[in-house]
Amino acid sequence: MSLHRISVIGTGYLGATHAAGMAELGHEVIGVDSDPARIGALAEGRVPFHEPGLPELLAKHVASGRLQFTTSLKEAAERADTHFICVGTPQGPDGAADVSHIHAVIDQLVPMLTTPTLIVGKSTVPVGTAQALMERIARIAKPGVEVDLAWNPEFLREGYAVKDTLHPNRLVIGATTPDAEWTLRDLYQGPIAEGVPVVVTDLPTSELVKVAANAFLATKISFINSMAELCEATGADVTLLADALGHDERIGRRFLNSGLGFGGGCLPKDIRALVARADELGRPESVRFLRDMDEINQRRRDRIVEMAAASVGSFRGVKIAVLGASFKPDSDDVRDSPALDVAIRLQEAGAFVTIYDPAANLTARAIAPTLRFAANALTACRKADLVLHLTEWAEFGELDPAAVGDVVRRKVLIDARNALDVHRWQDADWVVHAPGRSLDALDKHAERVSRDGGHRHVHDAKMPEGCEATTRRSPQEISDDGRAQPTEA
Ligand code: UDX
Repeated sequence: MSLHRISVIGTGYLGATHAAGMAELGHEVIGVDSDPARIGALAEGRVPFHEPGLPELLAKHVASGRLQFTTSLKEAAERADTHFICVGTPQGPDGAADVSHIHAVIDQLVPMLTTPTLIVGKSTVPVGTAQALMERIARIAKPGVEVDLAWNPEFLREGYAVKDTLHPNRLVIGATTPDAEWTLRDLYQGPIAEGVPVVVTDLPTSELVKVAANAFLATKISFINSMAELCEATGADVTLLADALGHDERIGRRFLNSGLGFGGGCLPKDIRALVARADELGRPESVRFLRDMDEINQRRRDRIVEMAAASVGSFRGVKIAVLGASFKPDSDDVRDSPALDVAIRLQEAGAFVTIYDPAANLTARAIAPTLRFAANALTACRKADLVLHLTEWAEFGELDPAAVGDVVRRKVLIDARNALDVHRWQDADWVVHAPGRSLDALDKHAERVSRDGGHRHVHDAKMPEGCEATTRRSPQEISDDGRAQPTEA
């Protein structure tokens, strides 16, 4: 592998992680951002958001000198010969992705280039963007200076971003020249040598891979959530249904965790952008189903509010403890967070809401300053009439139901993520509700097992192999996969 001098333009979540990851892969990296506060923090080795493992990686390479940061695009143009574009493509008012930041970078960077250069897009863009950028680059590049463009989408998940960057499950290279493909293969020689598969594509396919992957994941989650609606109408149990479906390898158990639905900076935005792009392309029918997926997902939030209303009657004067604000565990990201949305709706309906999140209290407060925030779960639950479990952080799975029971006014819990061991809570005399599950029926089954087999609870009974894992899993174990598995680190 040759040592490459690269720049990473845009040091948000994706860019900061990519910059540190490329330094770890042995390259000399300069991160660029127009936000001086962000660059100042990163240059001191501080990560301005929560991502396990990233602070250590960043500090290591800032200290080694292999990773530097600047606000000057000119400096990056002079020092690097490969530029990764990692700027945001936020959702516009019509749902379409706004690619103006990418255009602005290209317009500034390309005329400054004086030697052969590869620009690599990593941002998630509407299919067709790269082709338009190629044409633009050809118009604005200095005469005689070769500037090539490739697309290399990222698939990193918040909470696992470092692992996904250094050990991705695949590398997608959208390239139109052998040189661009070779440069990217050389840059990623470390992971490729580990056996990471490389899929080389044309530009539009590489752009589509990212949104198609997220549309598929969103569809899988909404599918199981639509089944949860049927489970609720019939007394069936969606968690057992998911386990049974998941044993079919063609289906798989991952991303079949039913509950409050998806949020975050990617899945909701990407499906809406794909719908908008299909409209523009004159093919609205091709992804019309994604509108349904979005609606099913939004209905989950309504459902949890309805369940809360059903357990307290009127919200006026009722104290509700909300556990979790981030859109998923191991993240402080509250963008389109189902948990925060539900908390805000409950407050608007008249409840006194106190929220606690292990990492997202500050980011949530910035969006919802009138909510009350607690420093820990027990404080949030003090004198609560209802406890809502909305984000499945590992520490909520470890709460002692008896200790929580000592501080609340009423022992009523809604496990909106279907992630807690409900029997532990029921043992401590909690009334537990969970979407898509008929916990009363489970109780009756447990009593029957108790009568017939001398076991007190269903999860203590002798279960066929594989079943115990589904009833005793911890939230950490199911956060990604749904099956009891070692925690990903
Ligand atoms: C996602 C993609 O997974 C990643 O490949 C892409 O690069 C960026 O978008 P991320 O947004 O970090 O990653 O979150 P992800 O782990 O996919 O979860 C998205 C949302 O779906 C979360 O709100 C999560 O709680 C929810 N979810 C996930 C479920 O409701 N059920 C599941 O079974 C899985």
